[in-house]
Amino acid sequence: MTTITFIEHSGREHTVQATDGHSLMRTAVSHGVPGIDAECGGACACATCHVYIRPEWLDRVGPALGNEKEMLDFALDVRGDSRLACQITVSPQLDGLVVGMPVAQS
Ligand code: FES
Repeated sequence: MTTITFIEHSGREHTVQATDGHSLMRTAVSHGVPGIDAECGGACACATCHVYIRPEWLDRVGPALGNEKEMLDFALDVRGDSRLACQITVSPQLDGLVVGMPVAQS
């Protein structure tokens, strides 16, 4: 199990135990984390799973590429540390990961 902390735009934190191999989006939804609506079910087609990766984690998580990068063009409040949670796979290397959420998902 890998520990992930989601922080709502309000600052409310949700620390959950994630299953390795699941997406970060699936992790949030299965734990009832508010702000991750995942309307497309993880198909990289809605951007309602937008998260901000904390600077210290950017190297390990990596940048958005390809379809994800294009989908982020339709998201609100996009920043350099923006990712779509459905495109990030939980692994032991992400143990302790902290992600924030944009105001549009509050
Ligand atoms: S769940 Fe739709 S883009 Fe991630």
